Amino acid sequence: MTVDIRNTIRFLLNHRLVELSSVSPVQTLLDFLRLDRNLRGTKEGCAEGDCGACTVLVGRLLDGRLKYESVNACIRFVGSLDGCHVVTVDCLAAPGGPLHPVQQAMVDTHASQCGFCTPGFVMSLYGLWMENPKPSVTEIEKALQGNLCRCTGYAAIIRAAEAVSVIGDLNKDPLVLEREKISKQLEGLKDGKRVVVGDGAERFVLPASVNDLAEIYEAEPKARIVAGSTDVGLWVTKFMRDISPVVHLSHLDELRSISVDETSMTLGAGVSYTQAYPLVTKHFPQLTELWDRIGGQQVRNMGTIGGNIANGSPIGDTPPALIALGASVVLRKGKRRRTVPLESFFIEYGKQDRHPGEFVEAVRIPFLNENARCAVYKITKRLDEDISAVCGAFRLTFDGNGKVSDAVIAYGGMAGTPKRAENAEAALNGAEWTDDTVETAMEALGADYTPLSDWRASADYRLLVAKNLLRRFYLETQGDQPVRLDRKRAV
Ligand SMILES: Cc1cc2nc3c(=O)[nH]c(=O)nc-3n(C[C@H](O)[C@H](O)[C@H](O)COP(=O)(O)OP(=O)(O)OC[C@H]3O[C@@H](n4cnc5c(N)ncnc54)[C@H](O)[C@@H]3O)c2cc1C
Ligand code: FES
Ligand code: FES
Repeated sequence: MTVDIRNTIRFLLNHRLVELSSVSPVQTLLDFLRLDRNLRGTKEGCAEGDCGACTVLVGRLLDGRLKYESVNACIRFVGSLDGCHVVTVDCLAAPGGPLHPVQQAMVDTHASQCGFCTPGFVMSLYGLWMENPKPSVTEIEKALQGNLCRCTGYAAIIRAAEAVSVIGDLNKDPLVLEREKISKQLEGLKDGKRVVVGDGAERFVLPASVNDLAEIYEAEPKARIVAGSTDVGLWVTKFMRDISPVVHLSHLDELRSISVDETSMTLGAGVSYTQAYPLVTKHFPQLTELWDRIGGQQVRNMGTIGGNIANGSPIGDTPPALIALGASVVLRKGKRRRTVPLESFFIEYGKQDRHPGEFVEAVRIPFLNENARCAVYKITKRLDEDISAVCGAFRLTFDGNGKVSDAVIAYGGMAGTPKRAENAEAALNGAEWTDDTVETAMEALGADYTPLSDWRASADYRLLVAKNLLRRFYLETQGDQPVRLDRKRAV
């Protein structure tokens, strides 16, 4: 395949076009803003995506619509910004001019003390305001899950969020007024070319298409794929790892497609948690709480389904749920595709069924059978923005006479991979769905797993929690005996 190549990346930064022909594959947006462009409003707190002090907005065209999302500049690589509009806190108010309504609301409600977290909160609230000018407290809390404040307390900040629309008129906001102009500018930056910046090992590539990605990665299987960079970003900022040459995926709209047919939903590997949310929660309402508790808003805006699978983490949140639902993963190498059940993709800790040069292209999730009940539980030390100590996912199909005809149970955090509980499943299959059966299955979990102790949880705690989650699932199916089969899936 012959493709045209461009050797610069181009994006809008506030009101200006930026063109870069020399930029390191590991240059973060935060360092670029502060050190290269002297835009010091955006702060560095943790440099690992946790505190939100570095929050900026990144706008991009998806399906013809310009959408701005909050992202963590500390773990976003500059190379991934081609074709985007980066908006930082520095451009919200002109020097000596009036404050932006979000900033004014923070002042009026005394929502800032030391002020270190404030620019990040302002940008998260600005992103929320643009999407939802009159948010509920729950919606505000969700938008702020990824922003930490250690002195003001959150009540005043929530009051600020509620006050923004009283102070300002969204229709007069510059980003709204200039939406058409900015969309045209971004459209003009799209030229369908492969972007290659740097040379040798110090290089990053933005493939022109998924076919181009397949060709590039097959030819150079040791290159590092970067999707949302919510894992890889930390390898750089915390472990100083050299990840180049890098192949970016986040600009590839084809990988961000979602399709639904009669029997299943297919998510492209580059679909972010935020993008997937409406359809995932519509077709699998049982996953709503889990989805709301993955990272914070910024991480959900950046992080992808493909990244959560491909990283092979034993404590990633979507694999247990997807395994329980019977999902399969589409892998692609060059022109060849193969589909494997997700559960067999995870071989052992750090090892997945992925050949050199092969990437995750999509994941297919079958809809639940009419007679199935399903639940997913995430157990963490704190409610928001925390990684699972244990994540349990259950899908049981019943035969209509109170017996289990098919049990699928998968846990994260209990082994070196997300793993099915075969002994517990065997104890349930063909048995009455009763207290005794569940007790037997809970005991069988001891034969399924030998969990580790680490700083998240001890082995004993993990096993006890795993057992109790099965009991919880059982209890939640009671009260509507015989076992209710009228699962409510919106179609
Ligand atoms: C603050 C914070 C909170 C987090 N909270 C959670 C949480 O609650 N639950 C959770 O599960 N995770 C959490 N994570 C981890 C992370 O967000 C997820 O694992 C995310 O899904 C990774 O996706 P990504 O697109 O950012 O992957 P990246 O960081 O871009 O890549 C991760 C790995 O996958 C590979 N990769 C990515 N896409 C592909 C592909 N299509 N084909 C082949 N290889 C690919 C990369 O090469 C890399 O090895 C959190 C991370 C942070 C920073
Ligand atoms: S500096 Fe803490 S999230 Fe980026
Ligand atoms: S005002 Fe000090 S950390 Fe939030």
